[in-house]
Amino acid sequence: MHRDVAAPPSDPAREPAAGWAPRPAPARFVAALAQERAVLAPMAGYTDAPFRRLARAFGAAWAVTEMVSARSLALGDARGLAISAPHEGETDVVVQVFAADPDEAAAAVARLHAAFAPAAFDLNMGCPVKKVLHRGCGAELIRDPQRAAAIVRAIGAAVPVPVTAKTRLGLDRVEAHEVAHAVVEAGAAILAVHGRTAAQRYAGSADWAAIAELAAALPVPVLGSGDVTDARGMARARAAGVGAMIARGALGRPWVFRTVRGGPPPTRSEVVGVAWRHARDHVAWYGGEHALPRLRGQLAAYAVAALGADAGSEPIDPRRGRDATGLRDALMRASRLAEVGAALREATGIEPEREDLDPLPGASPCPPAWTGWQGRRPRRSSTAERRWLAPTID
Ligand SMILES: Cc1cc2nc3c(=O)[nH]c(=O)nc-3n(C[C@H](O)[C@H](O)[C@H](O)COP(=O)(O)O)c2cc1C
Repeated sequence: MHRDVAAPPSDPAREPAAGWAPRPAPARFVAALAQERAVLAPMAGYTDAPFRRLARAFGAAWAVTEMVSARSLALGDARGLAISAPHEGETDVVVQVFAADPDEAAAAVARLHAAFAPAAFDLNMGCPVKKVLHRGCGAELIRDPQRAAAIVRAIGAAVPVPVTAKTRLGLDRVEAHEVAHAVVEAGAAILAVHGRTAAQRYAGSADWAAIAELAAALPVPVLGSGDVTDARGMARARAAGVGAMIARGALGRPWVFRTVRGGPPPTRSEVVGVAWRHARDHVAWYGGEHALPRLRGQLAAYAVAALGADAGSEPIDPRRGRDATGLRDALMRASRLAEVGAALREATGIEPEREDLDPLPGASPCPPAWTGWQGRRPRRSSTAERRWLAPTID
């Protein structure tokens, strides 16, 4: 396989870096897991500041950013700072980096730490995307435990906060035991495991028996990831002896962090209020309505929740007559915030901007010092990302 990254420095760099002592998971993370709160999993293109803020408001234990490229940050690109920047008051964000080279990883996290001091850094060892694998990053690290451990050590030596890691079960078979032990020995304080192989991508069901087996062999807290969408999923994680991470099940449904703990489903008014606030915060964060297309997939999911079974206990005014498909189409066409509000109002008869529905403080813009895209369009979600979303909006 082609690699455009040099092999990690030999033996000396593989030894524990001077002054590096592994740090345990932050006490508040451990306490949140003990309360059986689920964690918002990293999702490229989705777990930005406005979405993380909603997830936390509904009870997510903590939230992981979209993955950022260590190499780009190490080379001076600012985009990674913007992608992972915390919202106002978000003091415990976990920033995920993908890296193949320990020195680049160290330089990247030092830069991020200087910018906004995240609570922890997470190493991506699960991304199955070819262009990431070809650089020796993501799931490629599963078959290179020495390199993965060297990256964890380098991150730990560069910043004074805990390091965590997230892996899949393997590349094309269950084989993550060695890399899991290597990164834990190197100091990783928490390991998250997506219960699929990279070859499976997102197909089939996550293998929770394999997650449980891996977790039982490790001396650190483990988070299981895959198909958790309700209280039964939480119970399955508990039975496996691990905490739960939620990814797709939270898209357009941030209240899932409440319902997985046995909390009430959202009322229709709440869904409308949350959809509106998400759109409003998104526009405020990205500095303009040009950013709305990036939210389309989630707005579509909100449409289903607003008119579908999620909020079924609240009757719809029959004179409104719009079904979820009509609302979804209207939301996906919306290029202005006012159109989002009008579509929600028209389809449900509920006023989205009612202050008493607002579960959150006011929206904040991404601080200019961290934006790599001020004045530029944020990227639209890719076809692949829209495919991932599809199961949640059908
Ligand atoms: C659109 C999308 C983007 C993702 N991006 C990342 C990422 O940046 N880093 C990562 O470790 N996992 C990423 N994942 C994997 C998720 O964190 C999670 O492990 C996986 O989706 C299984 O959980 P789920 O069944 O709850 O979706 C992504 C998944 C999706 C659907």
